[in-house]
Amino acid sequence: MIDKIIFPYDFSKFSETAAKYVSDFSKMSAKYVVLVSVIEYEEFFTKVLFKENEIRRLKETMEERLAPVKEALEKSGFTVHTKIDFGIPYKVILSTAKTEKADLIVIGAQGRSATMEFLLGSTAINVLRHSTIPVMVVPNINLD
Ligand SMILES: Nc1ncnc2c1ncn2[C@@H]1O[C@H](COP(=O)(O)OP(=O)(O)OP(=O)(O)O)[C@@H](O)[C@H]1O
Ligand SMILES: [Mg+2]
Repeated sequence: MIDKIIFPYDFSKFSETAAKYVSDFSKMSAKYVVLVSVIEYEEFFTKVLFKENEIRRLKETMEERLAPVKEALEKSGFTVHTKIDFGIPYKVILSTAKTEKADLIVIGAQGRSATMEFLLGSTAINVLRHSTIPVMVVPNINLD
């Protein structure tokens, strides 16, 4: 049964579209969504480059940007938690899936750097390659 969904969000058109599919799972068995947003910096560089308060501020800004996405999912009936971290997106997505004991990952086929030349972005590829739970990959579908 699909109870908990990991939803990586990068503010791209793809992840916007994926949100609509995440919502559909609320009409089935799913109750929980973990909204994951990764600030793309290696942990080491983060510690070197940013001071504690700057890290906190960046996370707060990200939390604010995610708020409307979180609210929309809550309106669909989910209990939503956010996970904001620094790092390599696919690694944070997969480690979150593991610690949360999630049942499904819903991810965009591409993201912010989407081009027609590729079918999948590197985050989507690496999540698919290493995930131990099912992954729903959402392509560029025009729902309007
Ligand atoms: N920083 C991130 N935080 C959370 N989710 C992300 C992040 N980056 C990508 N994703 C998720 O992965 C999906 C695919 O994005 P991906 O990064 O693979 O494609 P891309 O940006 O077009 O290509 P690339 O990053 O390889 O240049 C996005 O739609 C989103 O769901
Ligand atoms: Mg990307």
